[in-house]
Amino acid sequence: MTGCPVHFDPLSPEQLADPYPLYAQLRSEAPVFYDKAHDLWIVTRYDDLLTVVRDTETFSSKNAVRASVRPLPQPVLDVLAAGWALTPTLTDSDGDVHKRLRLLVGKAFTPRRVAEMEGRIRKTVDALIDEFADDGRADIIEKLAWSLPMFALTDILNVPREDVPMLHHWSVSWLRIMQATDGVEDLIGCAKDVVTIQRYFMDALEARAYLAGHDFMSSLLHARVPDGEPITLEEAMRVVVNLIIAGHVTVTRSIGNGLTTLLAHPDQLQAVRRDPALVPSMVEEILRYESPAQGLFRTVRKDTVLNGVRIPAGAHLMVHWASANRDENVFDNPGAFDVTRDSVMAHVAFGKGIHACLGAPLARLQLQIVLPRLLERLPNLRLVPGAAVRDTIFFARGFKKLEIEWDVDAPIHHH
Ligand code: HEM
Repeated sequence: MTGCPVHFDPLSPEQLADPYPLYAQLRSEAPVFYDKAHDLWIVTRYDDLLTVVRDTETFSSKNAVRASVRPLPQPVLDVLAAGWALTPTLTDSDGDVHKRLRLLVGKAFTPRRVAEMEGRIRKTVDALIDEFADDGRADIIEKLAWSLPMFALTDILNVPREDVPMLHHWSVSWLRIMQATDGVEDLIGCAKDVVTIQRYFMDALEARAYLAGHDFMSSLLHARVPDGEPITLEEAMRVVVNLIIAGHVTVTRSIGNGLTTLLAHPDQLQAVRRDPALVPSMVEEILRYESPAQGLFRTVRKDTVLNGVRIPAGAHLMVHWASANRDENVFDNPGAFDVTRDSVMAHVAFGKGIHACLGAPLARLQLQIVLPRLLERLPNLRLVPGAAVRDTIFFARGFKKLEIEWDVDAPIHHH
């Protein structure tokens, strides 16, 4: 590798299939790398990444989920103007604005509310598997990986499960607005969906504003924190949309990444089958090894120097969780998938610092239930060769389509 110029092209077929050699090259040769094509600074070493996420004075979360900060075309902005401002919400705010929102949301999104979801998640997983268990073959992304996290979220938000297909469609449109690589006509359609999902949640919140209910949205509206104003309807709407998007695609990705990784490492799969107590560390190792959020973004507020490299004010920077998770200075033999790895909890797949993932307990709960259950209920589970299609959002690694097969004549075990 050494000697070749760095070629950051995450959507090329080679890098889409295996980006890890490139990350290794970046860590060793250009740990703070400026990519002209994307106008993006890429930070790939674990230590540098911690410096960035801890120094929120220098590195703002503004545009944290936008790969490009080019302004949207005017006709798209005109459509969005019929709705509400897209920001600030949790992921993209700083300082006191973020602190207040995070405290308020924490009052409603409690560990107890998540723990109470366990039984429903188990039931949802089994009901989804029941629908295709006798087929012997399925696209697991379509049949399960999208719906499971969506049902978990709509159950928490207490909105009808019938709305899941619409909510899914609108979330994808929201992501396409953030990526902003489609043509203007397509983006106009996406912008309409963004306004629709905003209205949908404004209505749901308004219906709860004057009721002393106990569901998540009521608790959020009625939450109080010392020295802080209660949340407004508009802020609450942005938080709920934020939860839907952040809590949805990431879990979908992890299910696909988890299955492919386990099936590619039969010895590790055997180890977990023999000792189910390894399931939690298996989930963490999957998140380290194939991080669904490969990287998110920061905006540099003032000229600064990171690991000897000058970065100008205004620069857009990618904090590369997936590369840090393969940093040889932190993880021994980082390219090995090892469900018994001692240091696995040092991974940064959920981020670090004040913006660390709020939904991590919910994500862990779902993954710890769904992955073992799929392996248990679909005997001799295997991939259909050549039938996997990767999604092409470069900061969210995972599959758009993942065909799996299993034996149907074997007896099915129920709990
Ligand atoms: C495996 C699944 C998941 C992964 C890999 C993941 C990853 C991340 C990462 C890396 C961040 C840090 C963002 C930053 O520093 O800019 C984050 C933040 C966040 N995540 Fe997750 N996430 C997952 C699941 C979830 C779920 C299920 C929810 C909601 C129910 C959720 C809600 C959030 C929210 C609200 C934030 C913003 C927190 C803040 O800025 O204070 N995530 N997530």
